Amino acid sequence: MNAPTPTAARSTASATVTKAVIPAAGLGTRFLPATKATPKEMLPVVDRPAIQYVVEEASSAGLDDVLLVTARGKRAVEDHFDSDTALEHALAAKGDTERLAAVRGVTGLARIHHVRQGAPLGLGHAVLCARDHVGDEPFAVLLGDDLIGPGETLLTDMLRVRARHGGSVVALMEVEPDRTHLYGCAAVKPVEYIGAGDGTLVRVSDLVEKPARDVAPSGYAVIGRYVLDPAVFDVLAATPPGHGGEIQLTDALRELAASEDHPVHGVVFSGRRYDTGDRASYLRTVVELACERPDLGSDFRRWLTDFVRSGRVAAHG
Ligand code: G1P
Repeated sequence: MNAPTPTAARSTASATVTKAVIPAAGLGTRFLPATKATPKEMLPVVDRPAIQYVVEEASSAGLDDVLLVTARGKRAVEDHFDSDTALEHALAAKGDTERLAAVRGVTGLARIHHVRQGAPLGLGHAVLCARDHVGDEPFAVLLGDDLIGPGETLLTDMLRVRARHGGSVVALMEVEPDRTHLYGCAAVKPVEYIGAGDGTLVRVSDLVEKPARDVAPSGYAVIGRYVLDPAVFDVLAATPPGHGGEIQLTDALRELAASEDHPVHGVVFSGRRYDTGDRASYLRTVVELACERPDLGSDFRRWLTDFVRSGRVAAHG
């Protein structure tokens, strides 16, 4: 891992965000047995591991420094973003320029760094593991299970909110009351409309991790995109274990939101988001993204249409 960037002379309020932190240390129990020996982040979505989409999203938002927070058993994630000269030579020798470009493209996405989370102490702890690398700069956190639809501008919108308002920014989506227990949920006040297609900006006044429907502050659920002020590190370091006995990022943000001098904003997102850690949602993700692929989509859509028309789908209903 590289040494932290010297930041003493920079004001964190105006600093540009260049770093993304991607926690990838989770066990992936929702997808066992597939994830017994394969990291959940490496499950393929069409022809790329899920985590590659997340790194691509960070890279297209201009974040060219990516820190993966990994753990024991996640070597495949680390290897995926490393160059593989033997493979590149073999593809070059065969004249397979298309696959060679695909393989090289992965390493060219960003400067990738790793740090290990030595114990599974929760998302808040995983983010705290990034402290030495991030230093005193604002940074983005992208959760590897959440894929945002290609072409959506969520992260760029959030970076714009941070540049304009300082503090921290979370991405929110409205969910049904029977799903609040799966997310961090926010109490919010409207602030302004950001602009056509960009969603709504709200001020977050409170956050609760995975509340039951009767105690949820609202139906606004935090999805896996954050732009955080480095002030979060001191708060995380003092945050006791919360929901599930883990150190929760939600709890640290709750404390920041309660303080006068640290705004927490929410960008309400209504675009496409996929949870690839859940089996049913994973299947929908693969089908939708395969349909959209310029190289595979037309054949796949034709097959899918025939499959539905054949009656074999309805036959199982
Ligand atoms: C984490 C966060 C939760 C957030 C969710 C989004 O939970 O703790 O606040 O709403 O990601 O996907 P996890 O899904 O890792 O249990």
